[in-house]
Parts: sequence; C-alpha cells; structure tokens
Amino acid sequence: MPTIKVNGTMREVNSPSDTPLLYVLNDELNIGSPQFGCGLAQCGACSVLLDGKEIRSCITPLSFVAGKEVITLEGLPDRWAKHQNLPHSTAKEVLHPVQAAWIEQQVPQCGFCQSGMMIKATELLETKPKPTLDEIKEAFTTSGPSPHLCRCGTYLAIVDAVRYASTLMTKGEA
Ligand code: FES
Ligand code: FES
Repeated sequence: MPTIKVNGTMREVNSPSDTPLLYVLNDELNIGSPQFGCGLAQCGACSVLLDGKEIRSCITPLSFVAGKEVITLEGLPDRWAKHQNLPHSTAKEVLHPVQAAWIEQQVPQCGFCQSGMMIKATELLETKPKPTLDEIKEAFTTSGPSPHLCRCGTYLAIVDAVRYASTLMTKGEA
C-alpha cells in the first residue's frame, strides 16, 4: 500500500501507482482544494506544491510523489507557522500571508481557480520574496506547462494580492 506525505502527515492510500495525484487527494484523502479543470496540465486549477515546487496534480502519477512532500492549500497555514517557528497548534489560528492577502484584496469570484493561484503565489514568494511585476506575470503565465487560467478574469486582483502578500511576508526585513 503506497504511503505519501501530505500537509505534514504520512497517509496510506489504496490507489494504483499510476493514479493521478489529484484523484488521490480529492477522492481518497478528501482534500478538496485542488480542482479538476482540464485534466491536461493546461489550466492550473489542480496545482499543489511538491517539495516546494508547483506541479499539476492532474497529470502527476502517485508513483512520482513517493518520498516527496505534497502541500495543498489546506497545508499553507502550517507551512507558514513552521516558517515563523510558531508551535504546530498555532497553525489552526493563522492564515498564510498569501491567503490573508487574497482575502484582503477580495480576489476570488467563483473561486474555482483560486487554490491553484495561491499555490503558485506561494511558490513564487518563497523563491522571490519581492518579485517585480514582470516576475509575477511570468510566474502565472510562462513558468509552467501553461498559464494559470481564470475564467472570471481576476488577474489584476491576483497581481495586487501577490504584492500585498510580499509585504506581509517580508515585514521587518531590510
Ligand atoms: S486540471 Fe490540472 S492543469 Fe487543469
Ligand atoms: S475566480 Fe472564477 S475561475 Fe477564477
């Protein structure tokens, strides 16, 4: 029985090793944030972090994630708590700055794409804490197998939220 690490916890799963990670997360582990949009790595709705890098879980087989750590939107508060050296119990009371910024900037409309957008923003800000406008645009358009798509057209609000999250995450730094 394969075991995978998701949001800091080792989970046993029954799915065959060629099952897309997205199905394992949604259907077996009841983790609802990654969405099935296209199933072809063409929209970004299913994005999760794998060892800190954004992947499209709809085309990633379970066998590929063995020995690596999967983080979904549900795992971001704990990821931030660890980054801030806060106790694990505190993770339930904090939001990751990316999530806080998304709320502050009122980004989501229907919300379908937004989990993938926040995962992408987290990857970006962990590698480039103060991204330029071009770097933000590049992250969401040409850095992966396809642009992250939003049928509601929230792109401008996403840029504002990434900038705001950047200020929250770098507060107090020179
Ligand atoms: S559902 Fe995976 S990229 Fe669209
Ligand atoms: S908020 Fe509706 S698809 Fe992006």
